[in-house]
Amino acid sequence: MFNFNKTLFVFLTLFTLLFFCKCEDQYQEIYVRFQWPYTDCIFHECPDFPDSLNYFIIHGIVTRNGSTPVKYCTTKEFNVTKIESIYYQLKAFSGDPYFFNAPEDLWKKFYEEYGTCLTDYLPTELDYFQKTLDIRNTYFIESWLRKAGIVPSDTHPYTYDQYKSTIESHIGKKVAVQCGSKPINGKIFMHVIGICYDDDFNPKDCSPETIEYEARACSDMDHMYLFKTNPTL
Ligand SMILES: *[C@@H]1O[C@H](CO)[C@@H](O)[C@H](O)[C@H]1NC(C)=O
Ligand SMILES: *[C@@H]1O[C@H](CO)[C@@H](O)[C@H](O)[C@H]1NC(C)=O
Repeated sequence: MFNFNKTLFVFLTLFTLLFFCKCEDQYQEIYVRFQWPYTDCIFHECPDFPDSLNYFIIHGIVTRNGSTPVKYCTTKEFNVTKIESIYYQLKAFSGDPYFFNAPEDLWKKFYEEYGTCLTDYLPTELDYFQKTLDIRNTYFIESWLRKAGIVPSDTHPYTYDQYKSTIESHIGKKVAVQCGSKPINGKIFMHVIGICYDDDFNPKDCSPETIEYEARACSDMDHMYLFKTNPTL
């Protein structure tokens, strides 16, 4: 016999599950780190680091669940042959000065850790890295900062809000600002601008959790340096 209460219970349960699954989805965000390259060489030795690298480079496209990156979704292996056509552009715009002479070691990590979790949106390895370049070619963070009077300097700090609001005025969405993990000679420095995207790669507000998590090392928000030279410890 048709049992109304039971049916209602099942529907309510399904509805609730669906609702919570959707809520959880909202925590998922695609996150791109735009890294100020000079500060990468503080804690690592950077052989042959080019002084001309005075622009932000992309440090992988990551899916995040809250503040945790989602990793290793398939066992697909990185194959550098598949991105030969964009190798030199990618070398200039994606990576880390620390890996300057062997960027493919880092790309392997980006792709196998993070790229394999984005295959719904970027099915192939070339799609993943081409998107990295497309994103980089849309966001000229260094020139936005320069126009706002924020020029690299080892002696003049800027505020957390100056960095954040300048980028937000161009993107129209809330971004994250990350500081280096430790001060250098007592100076807190700006290390990464993080931009969040929806599934169609339109920028969206980073979640408050992400913004707070990324700012965890910005202990003095009124004095944050954008180092001009490769600072030494
Ligand atoms: C996201 O994180 C939450 C809380 O840690 C966890 O319960 C959930 O399973 C995670 N979702 C995915 C898709 O990893
Ligand atoms: C790497 O990709 C190339 C081009 O698609 C292919 O010919 C080659 O077999 C691949 N190598 C491996 C180890 O899968």
